[in-house]
Amino acid sequence: MTDQRTPGSAPDEVPATTELGVNEEELEAAGIDLAVAEAAAPDREIAVEVGENIVEVRNLTVKFGGLLALDDVSFDIRRGEILGLIGPNGAGKTTCFNAMTGVYKPTSGDVLLEGASIKGQKQHRITRMGLARTFQNIRLFGEMTALENVVVGLDARHRTSVPGALLRLPRHTREEKSAIERGMALLEFVGIADHAGTLSRHLPYGYQRRLEIARALATDPKVLCLDEPAAGFNPAEKEELMELIRTIRADGYTVLLIEHDMKLVMGVTDRIVVLEFGRKIADAVPHEIRNDPRVIAAYLGEPEDDVA
Ligand SMILES: Nc1ncnc2c1ncn2[C@@H]1O[C@H](COP(=O)(O)OP(=O)(O)OP(=O)(O)O)[C@@H](O)[C@H]1O
Ligand SMILES: [Mg+2]
Repeated sequence: MTDQRTPGSAPDEVPATTELGVNEEELEAAGIDLAVAEAAAPDREIAVEVGENIVEVRNLTVKFGGLLALDDVSFDIRRGEILGLIGPNGAGKTTCFNAMTGVYKPTSGDVLLEGASIKGQKQHRITRMGLARTFQNIRLFGEMTALENVVVGLDARHRTSVPGALLRLPRHTREEKSAIERGMALLEFVGIADHAGTLSRHLPYGYQRRLEIARALATDPKVLCLDEPAAGFNPAEKEELMELIRTIRADGYTVLLIEHDMKLVMGVTDRIVVLEFGRKIADAVPHEIRNDPRVIAAYLGEPEDDVA
């Protein structure tokens, strides 16, 4: 496997890889327990080429009445990268996610996932195609436990028929066990396994954010889209969450990250797309974005905390 995920790594060096084709050093550096990753998604292909486009957003336009919330936006997401999607309030970031994940029907344009159009597909179908997301405003099943919230995501992958489930045929029993085991592994992965039995509405806010990520991962996505996952966090909590996102990427996922805090997004992304008033105004690596006069101008007038 070629591994260009770590910026600055020597491209001609072939790193030691595990049976799954994962760079062991990278996993160790990220503090990943491979057993957890394997248990969470045993069928996932991790040994993938990094670098080719996994998502192509093509001329995406979303109108709300007279408002052009997204105006002819195109960008690519490359496999294995963390792509940042930033911009001032109301720039169209969430609208872009909503159009990509089937919440809104785009006015025009298209989104391709591994070459397949998501046009006209329902949300659950797009999730099955491999595009999972979290929401800016947390959406969990408040009356379910943390574990149940994750198992619901895993359920989408169950192959057992309803009669099979009712009769408790052996395969169902096996899958149920493995769903719980995998759910627990995912909770462990995001660091909240100790709270598996807690109703999600009773979880501290930061844990709810992590649970949303676990639930999205439960659908076994190729691309994980996170809409301001660190919103409302203090700086230490934000740094911890960014570490989790790095870990998720090191574990073979592609990540699209909406984040309002420029400083934060600079530290974790490989590349950044900037929106302003529904238009793409920049698409470059972080240090170029930092020095881009259009981006600086777009962020003028934003609260100081949000400017790098
Ligand atoms: N369902 C909707 N109906 C009408 N207008 C909408 C709708 N959703 C978003 N908008 C408008 O579209 C524009 C883009 O909103 P969006 O939520 O995508 O911005 P954002 O970049 O995610 O902002 P924020 O940083 O505040 O989350 C805004 O002007 C918003 O008011
Ligand atoms: Mg938003």
